[in-house]
Amino acid sequence: MEYERVLHGRFADAEGVYEAYVGIEKGKIAKISGNELKGRDFISILQPHYVFPAFIDAHVHLREPGWEQKETFATGSVAALNGGVKTLLDMPNLPEPIDTLERLESKIARAQGMPVDIRHFAMATNAGEIKKMAQLVVGYKIYTAKSTGDSVMSWGAIEKASSVIASIDKPATFHCEDESLFTSASRHSDARPRESEILAIEKALGIVEKTGVKANIAHVSTEEGARLCREAEVMHEVTPHHVFFTKEQESPLLKMNPPLREKKDCDALLRALREGNCMLATDHAPHMLVEKQGANPPSGVPGLDTYGLFVSWLLKEKWVSPRAIAKVTSHNAAKFFGLPGGRIEEGAPAAFTVIGTEGNTTVHNSGVKTKCGWTPFDGITMPGKVMHVI
Ligand code: DOR
Ligand code: ZN
Repeated sequence: MEYERVLHGRFADAEGVYEAYVGIEKGKIAKISGNELKGRDFISILQPHYVFPAFIDAHVHLREPGWEQKETFATGSVAALNGGVKTLLDMPNLPEPIDTLERLESKIARAQGMPVDIRHFAMATNAGEIKKMAQLVVGYKIYTAKSTGDSVMSWGAIEKASSVIASIDKPATFHCEDESLFTSASRHSDARPRESEILAIEKALGIVEKTGVKANIAHVSTEEGARLCREAEVMHEVTPHHVFFTKEQESPLLKMNPPLREKKDCDALLRALREGNCMLATDHAPHMLVEKQGANPPSGVPGLDTYGLFVSWLLKEKWVSPRAIAKVTSHNAAKFFGLPGGRIEEGAPAAFTVIGTEGNTTVHNSGVKTKCGWTPFDGITMPGKVMHVI
């Protein structure tokens, strides 16, 4: 048997790390073997590189339609590939929030033909529209506090929406900050303090228990928040910026919701990644430099371009196992949202991200593909390299 293509290398998935020959036919994995396979096209990826199931970013804001000056499906797709991301889940907080079937259909039409797989969330704000959108979305987004866009919901409305979402067996991603604990402090991380996240996660988990909604807690920033999710065995996201930066580094550029926290929080989030039961998601939230450097800078940082380099940093400098990496970069998201990918098995999509762990890459604003043209990692040298998305 001669396969269309054979990929030989050191693979890493949720099961472990192994050298293999993978035969590919029509975009799918047709055969996995420890012995050499024949292919019309043969690619050998030598150690020390790792071949992972292609990365999935479960939390991205591509800004279209409405904020195309910040990002578009086209520019965001290239930024994703630059970072090793092959599938991304796009958020609905736009100037006209995606809360009706009509808006959803028109957004999906715009995202056709991109070089990455783009999936869509809808807002859960419009109780009457939730069911209508079910077939077209990966899940629903719930804002418990105001952030970019204007789709905050009361806890009462959240509980009602959660019941509807549970009844159609779809997931919901919760942005957890409780506005009742916001302060008027001038520092962003004090204005939206850690307690506000912890309280909101507690309330959200209560709603999960009551309604049975399948929940994902977005961008957990605190040690307590991570512990609550772990104890409740509820899916949650960890962002690169909440692991890499602390609130001492907070600045207009490094301003986001929830804000940066303390070293102990970075450590707890790193532990969650090591344990492998969460998702590494960027919360890619591009805003233009002129906005970030002006009065009242908006919250959010871009992250797609640097996803893969953050992964190699985890591998090389933080000793996160390749198996845990495979879980947090694709396996868990694929399983949680019911997406193809996230595993290296016969019948699975032949989509891979190759991370090189040798050498270094210095990140520069000039090298990123996001339309906003900057990255919080500007000037920072990361070990390793994103070699390919196959
Ligand atoms: O920092 C953030 N930026 N947090 C959010 O919740 C939204 C995001 C954005 O869309 O800019
Ligand atoms: Zn977000």
